[in-house]
Amino acid sequence: MQTIFEIDSALDMHLHLRDGDMLKLVGPLTSETFSGALIMPNLVPPVTTKEAMLSYKQRIQEACSEDKFTPHLTLFFQNNYSYEFLEDIKDEIIGIKLYPAGITTNSETGVASMDVEVLRPTLESMSKLGIPLCIHGETNGFVMDREKEFMPIYESIAQAFPDLKIIMEHITTKDAVELLDKYDNLYATVTLHHLLITLDDMAGGMLKPHLFCKPIAKRPEDRDALLNAALKAHPKLMFGSDSAPHPKHKKECCGCAAGVFTSPIALQALTQLFEENDSLENLNAFVSLNARRIYNLNPVSKKVKLVKKDFIVPTTYNFKGESVVPMYAGEVLNWTIQA
Ligand code: NCD
Ligand code: DOR
Ligand code: ZN
Ligand code: ZN
Repeated sequence: MQTIFEIDSALDMHLHLRDGDMLKLVGPLTSETFSGALIMPNLVPPVTTKEAMLSYKQRIQEACSEDKFTPHLTLFFQNNYSYEFLEDIKDEIIGIKLYPAGITTNSETGVASMDVEVLRPTLESMSKLGIPLCIHGETNGFVMDREKEFMPIYESIAQAFPDLKIIMEHITTKDAVELLDKYDNLYATVTLHHLLITLDDMAGGMLKPHLFCKPIAKRPEDRDALLNAALKAHPKLMFGSDSAPHPKHKKECCGCAAGVFTSPIALQALTQLFEENDSLENLNAFVSLNARRIYNLNPVSKKVKLVKKDFIVPTTYNFKGESVVPMYAGEVLNWTIQA
C-alpha cells in the first residue's frame, strides 16, 4: 500500500524568481507544483514602476507556461510613491516590499531610515488603500542580532498604522514568533530552511555555502519556536520559501551570495518534516489556507499528490548557461511528487 499525502493549492508567499535565463530555469520548478506565489521585486534595477511590474509579470507567465499558476507581483518600497500612483496600481499588486538599504541582495536602493515619520506618507496611502506591507526586518547591527533589533521597528509601524497589514518576512527568531501575537495587524512568513537548520548546520563544521542566507539561521531555541508555530499552523504564519537562486559559481566562491534555493524540494521536505513531527493534518493550513485568509486569495484548485517514496535531490538544475544547486543536493528525501 502506498502512503499518499495531498496538498491543495500550495502557495509560496515569498519567492525570488529573478529574470532572464535564471527565471526560465527556476520559474517552472515552482509553477509545476504551486498554485501561486508572491514574487519579490529585488531585480536590478528593482521593480518600482507599473510598466516594469507588468512586463516582469508577463515574463514570469511566459517562463512558467502553466495556466494553474498565479504570480502575485510586488513593488519595491520607495518613500516617494504618491497616493495616485498607488491607487492606480493597487489591483495589480499583492503588496509592497520594504528593504532597509544595503541589508541583502539588491537592496542598495532600499530605505535609508526606518523612522515611522519618514515612512509615514507612503504607509498612510498603503493603509488607506489596503495594500499590505512586506518587510525584510533586519538592522545593520551584529549579524545574529539584526532581526531581534528590528522588533521595536515592527512595533512602531504596527502601532502607528493599525489598519495596515504588515508581514514580517522570513522570520528566524523566537522574538519574532512572540511578537506575532502582540499586534492584530502583524503576520509573518517562514522559510523551509529556517524550520530545519541553525547556524551550526551552515558554519559549525565545514562551511556550507548553499545554506548561507539572510537573515542568517539562528540558535536551536529559535528554530524550535519557528517549528512549533509552523507545525501547529499558527493562523498568522504562512509558508514563504524565500527560495533565492544564485548561479553555482556565485555560491561556491570567495564572497558567497546569500540565498538558499529550495523551490524544487519545498513540498517534499515540508511533508517529511510535518510527518516526522506528527503534524501532517496542519500542513495544508500552513502552505495554503493561512495565506488565502491573510491575503484574501482564492487560488484555482491544484492538487499535488506526494507519495512516500525516496526522492534523490538532483545535484544541480541547469538551463543554457545557468546552473543552480538546491538545498539537500544529492541527498535523499522520503517523499516524492507523483508525476
Ligand atoms: C492580485 C494579486 O494578488 O497579485 N491582487 C490581489 O489579489 N489583491 C492581482 C493580480 O492577480 O496580479
Ligand atoms: O538570503 C537571501 N537572499 N535573503 C534575502 O533577503 C534576499 C535573497 C536574495 O534575493 O538572494
Ligand atoms: Zn528578505
Ligand atoms: Zn527574500
